[in-house]
Amino acid sequence: MNERRYNFNPGPAALPLPVLEHAKETLVELQAGGGMSIMEMSHRGAVVEELAAETQRLLLEAAGLGADYRALFMGGGASAQFALAALNFLPPEKTADYVLSGSFAEKAWSEAGYLGRTRIAASTKPDGWRSVPDMRGLAVPGDSAYVHMTTNNTIEGTRFDEFPDTGDVPLIADMTSDLLGRRLDCSRFSLIYAGAQKNLGPAGITAVIIREELLERASKSIPLIWRYETFAQNGSLYNTPPVHALYMMRLVLDWTAAQGGAAAMEKLNRAKAKLVYDAIDRSGGFYTGFARKSDRSDMNITWRMASEELERRFVRESECAGFEGLAGHRSVGGLRASAYNAVPLEACRALADFMDDFRRRNG
Ligand SMILES: Cc1ncc(COP(=O)(O)O)c(C=O)c1O
Repeated sequence: MNERRYNFNPGPAALPLPVLEHAKETLVELQAGGGMSIMEMSHRGAVVEELAAETQRLLLEAAGLGADYRALFMGGGASAQFALAALNFLPPEKTADYVLSGSFAEKAWSEAGYLGRTRIAASTKPDGWRSVPDMRGLAVPGDSAYVHMTTNNTIEGTRFDEFPDTGDVPLIADMTSDLLGRRLDCSRFSLIYAGAQKNLGPAGITAVIIREELLERASKSIPLIWRYETFAQNGSLYNTPPVHALYMMRLVLDWTAAQGGAAAMEKLNRAKAKLVYDAIDRSGGFYTGFARKSDRSDMNITWRMASEELERRFVRESECAGFEGLAGHRSVGGLRASAYNAVPLEACRALADFMDDFRRRNG
């Protein structure tokens, strides 16, 4: 095989090579002699039923959760969850509280606004999203339907370390860019969702984890297809699921477990991110980290340079040197390296070396 590129794409992102190779080996025929690909099988058959059940089990296990939670697989990406959370859990007499820490968090808040009453619980927008709001002592009003937060801000490169104590009010999190990328106490949350295309698999499938007790409180006046309960009652096979994406997620979850799960990933991701942050911090201002140091994400590392022209040159030269996906999000510019679970340490070491070399040549 040709050499793999150093893939720092923000999502869809790098997948573990052994997973891709296994998927290739089983693409045409899932089981030797079976004569069929998983993509050609009925989702009403035993093989896909077993696949869905096993993937649910693996996801809950990886998140460190027990039988009081359900894992579901849905379509529409994390963006659909922005609306579904409110559709299911925001009744007219209550108000949903949103912690705004970046542009995806703001989108989640804005989508809920089409469906009911919302409130901004805390925001770092005035800071240009360079930091995350302080969650210690967050006041949760009595009429709150839920508190929503985004644990890792993919575009800005910040993340929360502290989560609010919301008492009986459900805490909901968009964990699209850090679920299984670090140890998170998932039992603090009543509803967690994550588009798969960072740490969990390919795009086209969304992982949802929900506490049983919250399921019972969901709206009964919305269409069945938009109810979490429908997916829970049908083992995520209510309608035709993206079977191949589900299969890939299972392979990624198997791989993650074999690496040692979220704890091992956190250790590796910390070491990877440190290599790149150190290159920023030793550059004497040639590279400027975007995020406040105490809020830096290990998943998405963001920085700026003196001019947009220099940033464009950095991206151009990095692409020639074998790197992929280092341009910042179109809304903020600058540079971003997304170092999700499947990005090897080696890629981050190569990036740090490239950054040092580029600085020497252009500083
Ligand atoms: C934190 C976060 N939330 C939501 C989304 C949107 O996800 P999707 O494109 O799957 O709808 C993304 C995508 O990158 C994200 O990083």
